Amino acid sequence: MREVAQWLARALRVREVVGSSPAFPTCMTSNVWQTIERPIMALAPMEDVTDTVFRRVIADCGRPDVMFTEFTSADGICSSGHDRVVHRLRYTEKERPLIAQIWGITPEHYEQSAEMIRKLGFDGIDINMGCPVKKIINQGACSYLINKPDLATDIIQATQHGAGELPVSVKTRLGFGEIATEEWIGHLLDHDIDALTIHGRTVKQMSEVAADWNEIGKAVKIRERKGKSTPILGNGDVENLWQAYELAERYRLDGVMVGKGVFRNPYFFAHGWEAEDVSKEEKLRLFTNHVRLYEDEWQGEKNFNVMKKFLKMYINGFPGASHMRGELFRYESASDMIEALASLTPHQTFSDRI
Ligand SMILES: Cc1cc2nc3c(=O)[nH]c(=O)nc-3n(C[C@H](O)[C@H](O)[C@H](O)COP(=O)(O)O)c2cc1C
Repeated sequence: MREVAQWLARALRVREVVGSSPAFPTCMTSNVWQTIERPIMALAPMEDVTDTVFRRVIADCGRPDVMFTEFTSADGICSSGHDRVVHRLRYTEKERPLIAQIWGITPEHYEQSAEMIRKLGFDGIDINMGCPVKKIINQGACSYLINKPDLATDIIQATQHGAGELPVSVKTRLGFGEIATEEWIGHLLDHDIDALTIHGRTVKQMSEVAADWNEIGKAVKIRERKGKSTPILGNGDVENLWQAYELAERYRLDGVMVGKGVFRNPYFFAHGWEAEDVSKEEKLRLFTNHVRLYEDEWQGEKNFNVMKKFLKMYINGFPGASHMRGELFRYESASDMIEALASLTPHQTFSDRI
């Protein structure tokens, strides 16, 4: 346990160094899932995307009501290799309210991780019971727990034990091979969890069919039948804020979670800003800022190539975008990329300059 304590101390130090001005009261003790005004608009957890830097970029564009970290392995946190996973739990005050998402197969590790996450000052803990990635479900984790409801129960209870007063939520899918809203969502609602996010697909469906919002709506009816008040958030294929509000109202949801929608429009959560309203100049400015923040945060820790996956998010939707992406893709360092971006005048593309 000494190693884990050392890690915790290091993680806390990181937070102090990185910390910026608080956007949410640090001393908040109440349950975020109870206090946020409805409908709750949440930024989805996305592996290798929603790190501390990305969350700050999105918070600057238009703040969602709540954000999630990338999923972090509870078994990894409690192992001697914890250094390889804990970077996922870095954050600044600007990103709060912030929920740490964890996954794994060992209830005791959930308990210990929850205890640490509480000490790190997060606003909640979310358990990943939805990830469909083969190498994860082969370990019996995440969405595989849909097939193991008793283990899911043990994990929820262990996490709640470690979390103390901190709210514990679950994010899941509608079923594993088949839609099992009645059984699986019903099972989860039998627990006193603080919130439930439902991605409207089964595991087998991956992302190949449209999200089934009628089925998400069914979960609300099951909750009512059980006499529960667990906040339910729907998730899947939401393209703009207007649609998110419309879905929340139509299905009487407490909130909506949005993932890929922010790739199309970083201003997704800003009222009145449609994807078409974001100019080429603004996209270049946002990308430059993202590269700078990434370099400040991760230099020497994460490969710069990871940053290139964001090219498509910013360099799109204007004439010459595809060519510009190709040119920018060749840069191997943040400084070269920033210099190249700075050399583009507001109305220039690379081809204009040749
Ligand atoms: C690149 C990527 C990474 C993801 N990583 C996670 C994750 O770490 N935890 C999780 O619960 N879901 C993860 N998801 C699923 C999303 O949170 C969300 O449920 C899914 O993308 C559907 O919502 P959307 O249509 O709004 O994107 C990921 C999705 C994407 C595209």
